[in-house]
Amino acid sequence: MNRTRVKAALTSDTALDPIRIQGWVRTRRDSKGFSFLEINDGSCLKNIQVIVEHNSPAGALLKDIQTGASVEVTGALVESPGKGQKWEVKAREVTLFGTADPESYPLQKKRHSDEFLRTIAHLRPRTNKYGALFRIRSESAFSVHQFFRDRGFFYLQSPIITGSDCEGAGELFRVTTLPPFPPAGASKTDVFQEDFFGKEAGLTVSGQLEAELFTCALGNVYTFGPTFRAENSNTPRHAAEFWMIEPEMAFADLSDNMDLAEDLVKHMTRHVVEKCPEDLELFARFVDKDLMENLDAILNNTYVRLPYAEAVQILEKSGKPFEFPVKFGADLQTEHERYLCETHFKKPVLVYDYPKEIKAFYMRLNDDGTTVAAMDLLVPRVGELVGGSQREERYEVLHRRILETGMDPADYWWYLDIRRYGTVYHSGFGLGFERFLMMVTGVTNIRDVIPFPRTPKHLEF
Ligand code: 4AD
Ligand code: MG
Repeated sequence: MNRTRVKAALTSDTALDPIRIQGWVRTRRDSKGFSFLEINDGSCLKNIQVIVEHNSPAGALLKDIQTGASVEVTGALVESPGKGQKWEVKAREVTLFGTADPESYPLQKKRHSDEFLRTIAHLRPRTNKYGALFRIRSESAFSVHQFFRDRGFFYLQSPIITGSDCEGAGELFRVTTLPPFPPAGASKTDVFQEDFFGKEAGLTVSGQLEAELFTCALGNVYTFGPTFRAENSNTPRHAAEFWMIEPEMAFADLSDNMDLAEDLVKHMTRHVVEKCPEDLELFARFVDKDLMENLDAILNNTYVRLPYAEAVQILEKSGKPFEFPVKFGADLQTEHERYLCETHFKKPVLVYDYPKEIKAFYMRLNDDGTTVAAMDLLVPRVGELVGGSQREERYEVLHRRILETGMDPADYWWYLDIRRYGTVYHSGFGLGFERFLMMVTGVTNIRDVIPFPRTPKHLEF
């Protein structure tokens, strides 16, 4: 049921030409004289119905063709007299590649919980819901490249192994070839000199710093790749390995940055709505009844732009009994973020100008000396989808901020150099790809939008 193959057969005058289908059996129903097989090849949600006559050569195979078996069928594509499908295939020849023992195959036709399906992540893409999810994931990734290419951004592959912690949060996974137990009394520097890279190395938490170097050479660039955080928080929104889209623009300020974030989110959402209507409908029916309304709010509104100080005032006045107290200077929690965009404004909100204490060292210090030109995009269901800022392009200020945040300027000599030679004002952000997928499908756990999720104490598959 390869989409193009079926289409070709449907549009040709010879619709009765033999057609070939390769896929997995979803169900078999037996009737008098023949059986119906529902076959799916993963290309779309719909199955195609195949009819196998019992006294044909293929009929002899039927007893072994159960749910989960892999088959190839050649036959004639004909209009279906039955209900539920326009076309069906009358089998002429059937090849059975692999059986699936009904005693042990876990995906028999019934509803399974998401928790159970996580334990069989190698099989879950064969279900309707996860097939749809991962087709949407693929289309979404394509839409990212298309968006940036159409705007003249270059795609940069930033390194995955790194010696610097971009966010300064100490969440680097270590990369090493050292034996697990260093000799007693050895200092950290001595130990890492013996290591593969001759210094402490880790998996990247962000490609931003490298993107900044390139934006000061090629102009607008973006990265799109995996990032890793050893954040020991077992929340439905955090994964240890996730994908991030990080554009960086030269000669761009915070307002340009917010424009770009809004445009990107709308472009990606529109792309999914247009290219995956059938898959999306499954989520609107079975996962989140308000999904289409929510997507409408994302597509057809101008996003609110709200200084952090005003966001705090709105939250204080809300009278809502939040689990975490709201006060100026504290980071917004998911419950606060969701209150702002779901209850108060009922559309996405860009909060900007955060206190410098709760943001990273590289964000540009505002003239008030206390806030930085940071911005977070908050969306219904998810909370923070995007985090970004205008970058500190002034050498002296950046040098001071590095020291203030307890880092060593010597480790960032190359990052500082960009401010010594031809510095420009520039801005960028990171969009969490999985958080986008949660927003667009209504799925509430990040583990269910990642093919093989990595979270604390989970490393199966
Ligand atoms: O806000 P964050 O930490 O920003 C950065 O990493 C910047 N260097 C981005 C930049 O300016 N180039 O992360 C950006 C986004 C978050 O808004 C969130 O959507 C997602 O990445 N994110 C995670 N997604 C899944 N699991 C995690 N542990 C995540 N941490 C951040
Ligand atoms: Mg953030």
